Amino acid sequence: MKLMVIGSGGREHALIRSLKKNPTVTEIYALPGNGGIASDAVCVDIGAKDIPAIVRFAREAAIDYAVVAPDDPLALGCVDALEAIGVPCFGPHKAAAEIESSKVFAKNLMRKYGIPTAAYEVFNSAEAALSYLDTAPLPTVVKADGLALGKGVIIAKTREEARTAVREIMQEKRFGDSGSRVVIEEFLEGPEVSVLCFTDGKTVVPMVSSMDHKRAGDGDTGLNTGGMGTIAPNPYYTPEVAERCMREIFLPTIRAMKQEGREFRGCLYFGLMITFDGPKVIEYNCRFGDPETQVVLPLLDSDLLTVMQAVTEGRLADCPVRFRDAHACCVILASAGYPEHYEKGLPISIPEDVLPHVYVAGAALRDGQLVTGGGRVLGVTAVADTLLEAIGEAYRMADQITFENRYCRRDIGQRALQAKQN
Ligand code: AMP
Ligand code: GLY
Repeated sequence: MKLMVIGSGGREHALIRSLKKNPTVTEIYALPGNGGIASDAVCVDIGAKDIPAIVRFAREAAIDYAVVAPDDPLALGCVDALEAIGVPCFGPHKAAAEIESSKVFAKNLMRKYGIPTAAYEVFNSAEAALSYLDTAPLPTVVKADGLALGKGVIIAKTREEARTAVREIMQEKRFGDSGSRVVIEEFLEGPEVSVLCFTDGKTVVPMVSSMDHKRAGDGDTGLNTGGMGTIAPNPYYTPEVAERCMREIFLPTIRAMKQEGREFRGCLYFGLMITFDGPKVIEYNCRFGDPETQVVLPLLDSDLLTVMQAVTEGRLADCPVRFRDAHACCVILASAGYPEHYEKGLPISIPEDVLPHVYVAGAALRDGQLVTGGGRVLGVTAVADTLLEAIGEAYRMADQITFENRYCRRDIGQRALQAKQN
């Protein structure tokens, strides 16, 4: 089988490592991949948003199966375009991907089908949003409607902060067209849990739960990032919470999408908050999370390609999906300055025995030498019997990797450890 994976981050590297384990796989192409992915797949210099070039490549290379990993190509209809030329894909159609690409769509879906989420209002004009903010309860949460690189969410403690957010999103168009509408919603409190689910539109199979660490600094301080580390499973996701999520959130969402004529096939990511009133949806993503994938897939016991094909072919109910009873921790090594300005092109050194545990996110090859090429440079994942051991091992390996201006959070997993002790 010839496989093609669209995307270029640590998530794609983890997907490729798992897909490679299937003995029927002969070749994997990464479009565009990166300098680190190049040791596990053939990187092809086609951008993840260039749908016509992706389709042309799939035809010329006679690709048998495609995995579309990032949000942008999914929102642009990459799966629809590939299926139109007969290439089966893992990932939702454009209409189903809207569950992530439009927060207004997602919120209205939840309201219509009674799926628990923060109370909210939608605004099409800055004037209406600003006047609502005169009396909105504080803190309040302002969200740009569309994709905004994970940066379109502002938690405002004061009216002035909320007004600034509305002006930036709607008038200054900081996130482009993403900001033609805003959602203003209730501020929720409680621990956050990420649950990635395989679904073929009828059956939903949750993967092991995980916890992201989104802020740049220790103790959840500093700016929001794409994610500085993850652990799995998440101790806040107890069997009782899991049962409630399945009944009140996962199944109702899958049924709602089918009802709307937008059957979802692929990985549906539920960003949940476990509030005093029970679990509520903070966000949906129409894809594997990054860096959640880097802790979830190493715990997957079943063959990833087999499960993905069952999803594509609508026979997930007959496909066993098993996870190891173990713990994983992924520590992200970033370039100092991320998520703002940082230097690129600095040589990276990784010991041979650590390499199999490394998922490269932003790096390039320069004369055969791996050099930094992004804010998040790479992630190191350890799997162990206990969370404590997994954390220790992840940092032990991470600390053997060197590049100039390297920084990481030192407290990945600490909150989860404390939760386990309480
Ligand atoms: P999102 O991009 O939707 O994942 O939002 C980014 C982060 O903002 C989430 O992971 C939460 O920590 C936080 N957040 C989003 N919506 C809310 C809310 N309604 N109440 C409290 N925190 C929120
Ligand atoms: N880690 C959050 C995301 O993938 O959007």
